[in-house]
Amino acid sequence: MNDVHRAAVALRAGALVAFPTETVYGLGADASNPAAVAKIFAAKGRPADHPLIVHLPDVSHLSAWAINIPDTAVKLAAAFWPGPLTLILQRAKGVLDAVTGGQNTVGLRVPKHPLALELLHAFDGGIAAPSANRFGRISPTTAAHVAEELSGQVAMILDGGPCAVGIESTILDLSRSVPEILRPGAITAAEIERVTGILPRSAITHSAPRVSGSMEAHYAPRTPLRLVSADVLDAQISAAITDGQKIAVLAFGPAQAGSLLVWRTAADDPAAYAHELYASLRELDNTGCRCIFVQRPDTGESWRAVNDRLQRAAAGSGQHSFQA
Ligand code: TXA
Ligand code: MG
Repeated sequence: MNDVHRAAVALRAGALVAFPTETVYGLGADASNPAAVAKIFAAKGRPADHPLIVHLPDVSHLSAWAINIPDTAVKLAAAFWPGPLTLILQRAKGVLDAVTGGQNTVGLRVPKHPLALELLHAFDGGIAAPSANRFGRISPTTAAHVAEELSGQVAMILDGGPCAVGIESTILDLSRSVPEILRPGAITAAEIERVTGILPRSAITHSAPRVSGSMEAHYAPRTPLRLVSADVLDAQISAAITDGQKIAVLAFGPAQAGSLLVWRTAADDPAAYAHELYASLRELDNTGCRCIFVQRPDTGESWRAVNDRLQRAAAGSGQHSFQA
């Protein structure tokens, strides 16, 4: 039996299995088994009312999990699945409250990673899987990150290498009259409009259903993280260093050297930036620096998902910061 089949057997027995997707690593459990789903919340330290995304082997499974499926969902699934788009639909009877957080909707997606698809086909059902990190922490994009977060809490970690996309899926709510993006991701509003003819509303967090992706403090390093615009970056770096503080920097343009500086040059392209983002933050978080300065990227649509994660990382950072 290979690892994927062992993982499918473990899932059927109610155990947790971490697996790669194209976005981030997921912490998977049999979505039809309440005891297994409960283990996800325990392992993550996640509040019980936060709903989980159910991962499906292919679109043919959709009708087992959702009802009143609109045409737009069918079109979007055809265009983007497997891929980094989660659809929020009205839930079918029998979908566990533990999975939906008691709401009448369910989040569904078909992930694109070959190992994830192999696992889903071997399991032949829905796998509930949040990102495989402790609640509020940076999502894992390698198997080693998962081990750092959850070692001892999972039966198996499938290693599929670094995740191609690097940030979580776009979440699109199709359960209400107007489609709304609850969490921006690699699939943009413009791409959704191209397929459906409707431009979804974007990220109005106050009206969204409970979505932990819409909480301010999320995806956060322990070191305080500050978003700094290009024009004041040099001055802020100099000020910190004059104070004798060691700082980490994630910025565009050539690296600066200095004994008190840990520097990472950011990719100019939003997809490449997203791909590296969480690994970079994790690495910079482990350098014992006083602060992580991140140069603010452009505000354009193609940077929307990256900016969303950076703002949340800044808001949630510094919870266990390095003390003088
Ligand atoms: O890329 C991803 O989506 C990754 C990989 C593993 O698939 N998963 C992921 O899961 O990011 P998680 O649990 O970290 O984030 C899922 C988000 C949460 O913010 C949750 O509240 C929201 O999806 N969600 C799930 N079901 C929902 C529903 N019925 N209504 C509104 N939000 C929902
Ligand atoms: Mg998460």
